Amino acid sequence: MKSINKFVKVAEQSGIRHISDFTDDLTDIIQLTVGEIDLPTPENTKQAGIEAIKNNYTKYTSNRGAENLRKTIANFTAAHYGMEFDWRSEIIVTVGASEGIDLALRTLCNIRDEVVIAAPAYPAYVSSTIITGAKPVFVDTTKTNFKMTADTLEAVITPQTKAVILNYPNNPTGTILKHAELAALAKVIIEHDLYVITDDVYDLIVYDDSGQAQSIVTLPNMRERTIVLNGVSKSHSMTGWRIGYVLAPVKIIDQMFKVHQTNVGTATSISQAAAIAALERDADNPQKLVKIFKERKELVTAALDEMGLAYVEPQGAFYIFVNINNLKLSSWEFSIKLIQDYKLAVVPGSAFSADGYIRISYAADKKILAEAMKRLEKAVNDLKIIADS
Ligand SMILES: Cc1ncc(COP(=O)(O)O)c(C=O)c1O
Repeated sequence: MKSINKFVKVAEQSGIRHISDFTDDLTDIIQLTVGEIDLPTPENTKQAGIEAIKNNYTKYTSNRGAENLRKTIANFTAAHYGMEFDWRSEIIVTVGASEGIDLALRTLCNIRDEVVIAAPAYPAYVSSTIITGAKPVFVDTTKTNFKMTADTLEAVITPQTKAVILNYPNNPTGTILKHAELAALAKVIIEHDLYVITDDVYDLIVYDDSGQAQSIVTLPNMRERTIVLNGVSKSHSMTGWRIGYVLAPVKIIDQMFKVHQTNVGTATSISQAAAIAALERDADNPQKLVKIFKERKELVTAALDEMGLAYVEPQGAFYIFVNINNLKLSSWEFSIKLIQDYKLAVVPGSAFSADGYIRISYAADKKILAEAMKRLEKAVNDLKIIADS
């Protein structure tokens, strides 16, 4: 048989899914793996979806997204980013932010272009880049507080560099970039005439008083070279509804639209109706989540302190990236051991292109988290004895 596409062949399946698939048949396992909020979609949003079905709002919408949703997104982003995006020409509603990642990369990249990605990284950035035939180039952020810096970015730029992907608040570390850090990156990006894909899906889940993380798109002269990815999956517990959106300049988004139209036509009409309610009537949902997540984060960090495990203090999102280097096992080996011997599932750092760490998602009830920490502590104590002997 003839060979299949070589780029698809070398791209890997998500390691996050890989580990959670591993646990499907096990009972009594605590799953802190997939980046999904345990709480339900807010009530007004659910009702809007139900009403949409009852009212037969079940046909194709405009391919760029239902007009009323794009207008809602334009209003929301005007307040949120402090920038006007034209609902007619600068917004596409996507099937989750996941589609946005693919659209952005396929629109920008030619074969052998290079895309700069901070490692640890959300796995889809890597596989989506590889599928386009471009090359992921990693910036190791483990020695710079898990932040891409102007210097570490500059060091990897070559004539082939096409784009940089930024994701702050970050999955898996929860780090955020301050204004000065974004400005330093923007300077390098402009000097080298690069595009930026900024994945802002966690930007309303932040733990300081600001209520949101700043996006690089808001910096001077960045808008023309930036594709913003955002959505309601994380801010509104809507991972299954599959609604995201892209904000980009007309010159770029018109090209992205061709990819979107070819692939999905349009996002689901019912989910689009629900997303309007999410961004209007349930607009305060992220603040509600933050209150809950703050307590959960404190529970987990206190337990990790007790165990003597180092971690990056999360400033946003709902993950904690824990250093397990002292345990003398690879992150994959440790994660499998945790599942098999302690009935706890977390994601190995290797899934994020960073071994020596595990990612714990604390989007789970406090009782479950407390039991999970007990299991982790037992594993760590048992392994420390082995490592020390
Ligand atoms: C950084 C990041 N971007 C994008 C996504 C995908 O979001 P969606 O469910 O909207 O496709 C995730 C999901 O975990 C994520 O963590």
